[in-house]
Amino acid sequence: MTSYLSTPPAIAAGTLSATSQPTLPAPGDLVLRPWDPADAATFLGAYQDAAIRRWHTNRPSTEQDVHDWFARYRDDWTHERAGHWAVTGPDDAVLGRIALGRWDFADGLAACAYWVLPAARGAGVASRALIGLGDWAFEAGFHRLYLDHSTRNDASCRVAVKAGFALEGTQRSAGIHADGRHDMHLHARIRGDQPPA
Ligand SMILES: CC(C)(COP(=O)(O)OP(=O)(O)OC[C@H]1O[C@@H](n2cnc3c(N)ncnc32)[C@H](O)[C@@H]1OP(=O)(O)O)[C@@H](O)C(=O)NCCC(=O)NCCS
Repeated sequence: MTSYLSTPPAIAAGTLSATSQPTLPAPGDLVLRPWDPADAATFLGAYQDAAIRRWHTNRPSTEQDVHDWFARYRDDWTHERAGHWAVTGPDDAVLGRIALGRWDFADGLAACAYWVLPAARGAGVASRALIGLGDWAFEAGFHRLYLDHSTRNDASCRVAVKAGFALEGTQRSAGIHADGRHDMHLHARIRGDQPPA
């Protein structure tokens, strides 16, 4: 495709899709790996949880939906749109989900999203997965990683701050949830920021 950019892109097109989606380490023996068809029931089950349903309005309804999502996830990598990982423990059991989407190779930007299964919460899974994902993304050439969450989602705010994503401000009325529009916090971690503790 013809490029009209007058500055070099942060990441050259084709750089990430040239190799298959990597499995990534995260602190405390977490492993971020591509989703496997065998994870479909667990993935679907996650969306029965009230908190995940509250904060994630985009959700699968059947196992077939999940397989369709997993196919789109593979396609997202191939077409350099996003990467989607299962967050697993050392025994490969799924603990949660983390994704890096909205890839912008020109400016080196990408957006993070996550959830953790109820039984795995409160042990630093989301924040550690976000640290591992961020470390890989900067290595891969991204410059700014951002995420947003409802101002009413205090746990997500805490995850972001613990993973080194500074709070930048509030986007008014930016997200729709089941109970209406919410203001959204915007957080970001920039390459060169002090590494998270
Ligand atoms: C938000 C979520 C991802 C956190 O996952 P987790 O692995 O438990 O997160 P961590 O253990 O890394 O950190 C959770 C932090 O939030 C805090 N927290 C949890 N519930 C909280 C609440 N109701 N109010 C304030 N803080 C809260 C915890 O105390 C912890 O902070 P601490 O380490 O300073 O004590 C998980 O609760 C979840 O999946 N929730 C539903 C879906 C969701 O909210 N997704 C994010 C959408 S933006």
